[in-house]
Amino acid sequence: MQSKIRAAVLRQLGRPVTVEQLTVADPAAGEVRVRMTAAGLCHSDLYVRDGAWARPTPVVMGHEGAGVVESVGDGVDPALVGGQVVLSWQVPCGTCRACAEARPWACQQSPSFSYLRRDGSAAYTDARGQPIHSYSALATMSEATIVAEAAAVPIPDDVDPGVAALIGCCVSTGVGAVRKTAQVAAGSSVVIIGLGGVGLSCVMGAALAQAGRIVVVDRQSQKLDLALELGATHAVPAGADVDATLRALLAELPTAGADYAFEAAGRAETATLAAEALAPDGLAVMVGMPPMGARASFDVYRLVDGNRRIVGSNYGHTDPAVDFPAYAELHRAGRLPVERLIDRRLDLAEIEDAFDRLRAGTALRQVVVMPGD
Ligand code: APR
Ligand code: ZN
Ligand code: ZN
Repeated sequence: MQSKIRAAVLRQLGRPVTVEQLTVADPAAGEVRVRMTAAGLCHSDLYVRDGAWARPTPVVMGHEGAGVVESVGDGVDPALVGGQVVLSWQVPCGTCRACAEARPWACQQSPSFSYLRRDGSAAYTDARGQPIHSYSALATMSEATIVAEAAAVPIPDDVDPGVAALIGCCVSTGVGAVRKTAQVAAGSSVVIIGLGGVGLSCVMGAALAQAGRIVVVDRQSQKLDLALELGATHAVPAGADVDATLRALLAELPTAGADYAFEAAGRAETATLAAEALAPDGLAVMVGMPPMGARASFDVYRLVDGNRRIVGSNYGHTDPAVDFPAYAELHRAGRLPVERLIDRRLDLAEIEDAFDRLRAGTALRQVVVMPGD
C-alpha cells in the first residue's frame, strides 16, 4: 500500500488544478482507505475551480468517484477490503433528529461539510508537510483517499468503475430528483432543462418512472439527441425563442403545462423557465446549483392561483446505503444506461483540459481513470 500518491490539487480558487504527489494517511477508527479507480467531473467541481463557490484550499478535488477498499480502521468490517465502493458526499450520522426520522439527506453532521477527517486532521500532506483538505471529505481525484466508513457504500464488483463513480453524484442527484423528490407519476408530463450528467440522469429517471411526455431543453444538439435515445419524447433547442417553443409544445397537453419541471442547468433564467412551464398543481424542482448568490424570479400571482410549487432537491433525497446499490442493480438490469453519459476517459494529468471542455459546455461526463496496480 503506497502512502505516496498522485492527486489533483487546487491551491487557490480560480487558479489551475495541478497534479501533485502527496502523502495519504492510514485509516483511523471508523474510516476506510480507498484506492480510487474512477472519478467523474461534475459542474460543481468547475464552480470550485473557477472560484464561483468559496471553499477551503488547498484541497484535493472531486466528489464523484468509486474505488476499491484497501484497508480499514478499527471498528470497521474487514470484509470490506477488496470490494468495490461508491463514495457518497452525504454521510448520515445515524443519530441526529433528521437521521432518526429517516431523512438522512437532511443530516447536518456529515463530515462532508468540514473537508477534514472526523478528528479534525487532514487526510493528505504535501511535500513540505502542509495539510491538504479533501473536497467534501472525499477527494475522489486522487489515487487513494481516506473517508468515513458510511461514505464508502459497497456495490457489486462487476459494475464498471466509471458507472460506479457517476452513481455517486449525478445519477443519484438526477434520478433521485425525479423518483424521490418529485415522485413522478406514470403517464405524467415532464420538462427537463439542462442535459449534463445531472439532467440526463433526470431523463433516465423519468423514463424509469414511465412519464408520458418527456420534453428536454439544452443548447447543444448532440445532448438533445442523446436525451431522445434515453427516452425523451420532444427536444427543444435553448435559444431566443425557447420560451415560445416550450409554451406551444405544452399547450398541446390537456393540462396546458407540465406536471413536473426539472432545472438541471444551474442558471437563474432556466429556474424561471422551469417555474413558468408548469400546469396548475405542477411541481418545479430546482436540481442544478448556480454560482453562489444567484437569484431568480417567477410570476407570483400565477404560482398561487394555480397551486404550483417550487422545491429544491440536493443530491436527489439520496439515502446512499439504500439508493446506491439500487441504482447499481437497475444499471445491471439494463434499465439505467449510465455508461451512455460517459464521453471521455482521461488521466489525472489532463484535468485542466477537462475543465476547459466542461466550461465550454461541449463535454458530457468526463471520467478520470486511475492506473491499476
Ligand atoms: N438553457 C438550457 N440548457 C442550458 C443552458 C440554458 N440557458 N445553459 C446551460 N445549459 C446546459 C448545458 O449545455 C449543459 O448541457 O446545461 C447543461 C449543464 O450540464 P453540465 O455543465 O455538464 O453540469 P452537470 O454536472 O450536469 O450539473 C448540472 O447541477 O449539481 C449541479 O452544480 C451542478 O449546476 C450544476 C448542475
Ligand atoms: Zn456533483
Ligand atoms: Zn444525522
